Amino acid sequence: MPKSARIDASAASAEDEVTRAVLRRVEESSEGRMRELMLSLTRHLHGFIREVEPSEAEWMAAIRFLTETGKKCDERRQEFILLSDTLGATMLIDAINNRKPEGATESSVLGPFYQEGAPAYDNGADLADAATGGERVLIAGRVIDLDGAAIAGAELDVWQTAPDALYAAQDASGDSFNLCGRLTTGADGRYWFYTRKPVSYTVPGDGPVGAMLSAAGRHNWRPAHIHFKLSASGYETLVTQLFTDDDPYLGSDAVFGVKDSLVVHYVATDDGLRLDHDFVMTAAS
Ligand code: BEZ
Ligand code: FE
Repeated sequence: MPKSARIDASAASAEDEVTRAVLRRVEESSEGRMRELMLSLTRHLHGFIREVEPSEAEWMAAIRFLTETGKKCDERRQEFILLSDTLGATMLIDAINNRKPEGATESSVLGPFYQEGAPAYDNGADLADAATGGERVLIAGRVIDLDGAAIAGAELDVWQTAPDALYAAQDASGDSFNLCGRLTTGADGRYWFYTRKPVSYTVPGDGPVGAMLSAAGRHNWRPAHIHFKLSASGYETLVTQLFTDDDPYLGSDAVFGVKDSLVVHYVATDDGLRLDHDFVMTAAS
């Protein structure tokens, strides 16, 4: 056998041996779910490295990227969640954990701008502060079960961007709830409230995740949407979003949150825009 073939064969076996050694170590030392997770992580991580064969400089760049991602996290900013979002991992976790029967309203990401404790409003209220511009819309519909029966007393927790493309949670005062609110369905399952048509906005682009998106030739826009978190006794909590059908970013959401069934149309009426939408909840198991 020529010398170069011997080097190739022994390098390949050293590469395989390190993977086998890690797998053996995990098998010997861990058990249960941890063992399952570590075995799969090892196989996939080593498989990725084997497939792309990073140079040492590339691997150091990847480690620097993760280090910078960690440094960008604090009480108000979670760059690792943004990384998970922009890699589609958050939506995959969401899909796996929210498998729903045909006819149920589909879920989407909660996102970082949800604030607990939004004011409770009566149906018919306007969620916008007086100074808020934008197009006024009436949103109305029913919360029902899979058989079409009304769910009374369901709470809809709503939040969205203002016309300046910012959420109340991004307000420096830290205590704004503009365009956020909680509504409760009546005996007929109906809800209705006024708000402003949401606008498209960018997810934070000034950190390592923004740099990654640019390097990959991607933008950081999310198509306009309104967030809803629905809860009702005896039903699975539903976290979802309704996307505006005329948005240019519908097909390229930076966090992959759009589902066809969640794309809605605002109808122009003499009284302004109107959106009618029913939510279908599933019984808690
Ligand atoms: C949002 O929809 O609010 C959102 C989701 C993921 C990342 C950033 C924002
Ligand atoms: Fe959002």
